[in-house]
Amino acid sequence: MKKWLYCFVMVVSGCQSSGLYEQEQKPSPPIQVEQPARSSETPAPSSEAEEQEELVLEERFWNQIEVQNGIKVITNPDNILVLVNKEQQLPSDYKPADLVIPNVPFTFKETNVEKRYMRAEAAKALEAMFTAAKKQQIMLYAVSGYRSYERQQQLFSSEVQRLGEEKAVVAVAMPGRSEHQTGLAIDITSPSVQYAITPAFGDTLEGKWVAEHAHEFGFIIRYPKGKEHITKYQYEPWHLRYVGEKAAKVIYEKQITLEEYFQIVKKI
Ligand code: DAL
Ligand code: ZN
Repeated sequence: MKKWLYCFVMVVSGCQSSGLYEQEQKPSPPIQVEQPARSSETPAPSSEAEEQEELVLEERFWNQIEVQNGIKVITNPDNILVLVNKEQQLPSDYKPADLVIPNVPFTFKETNVEKRYMRAEAAKALEAMFTAAKKQQIMLYAVSGYRSYERQQQLFSSEVQRLGEEKAVVAVAMPGRSEHQTGLAIDITSPSVQYAITPAFGDTLEGKWVAEHAHEFGFIIRYPKGKEHITKYQYEPWHLRYVGEKAAKVIYEKQITLEEYFQIVKKI
């Protein structure tokens, strides 16, 4: 509640100052990340205790790492919060056991192709998000979900040939380092950008709707604008990553990356 409105309510109701007001006056606990202005549509955590609860994370959600030939390999890749990036990669033989095809429109016709698949929990959340979007005339299309290690090898080498290594490494993950191998990532687009995978998607009605609402369904924009120095990838408004609603809410409200999320949550 806005302070002036709260004061007005207090005056007309004649109430004593409550704990709620005192809590609203307390500064938030210090967080070592940039704190952009909170969106007016975003509800503030109702109490300090709730905010503390949001910032704890059970040990099972953290990466377990084994160093193999100097490479950090994730040994619990089924973790829904798995952090895959240029520092920590998936085992080359990892394939999620619960891949399903989400019932959403795709930009292509082929049916039994791996890019149609996602892990069951993420697929269900994607269906819910696409349904909610459609109700508001926001037309979304899926482009690419699960990507095997072998497909990542093909894509990466063709991008190196096409663009050169320097440009390829900020656009496409090296084999084992793509979130698409987790089955928790999906690239999406819309008719307004001719179904393309393009940064312009972020400026469309659809892209803006996704940026504002994806967290309600447990998704985050994994490679946001202005965070390239942290993610080490270019801005990708089309690449959504499922992390579950609890983490997605924190990441959205604080406008941070998954890497930064793991810096601010406390392991319990
Ligand atoms: N484009 C993202 C980084 C990937 O290749 O997974
Ligand atoms: Zn992607």
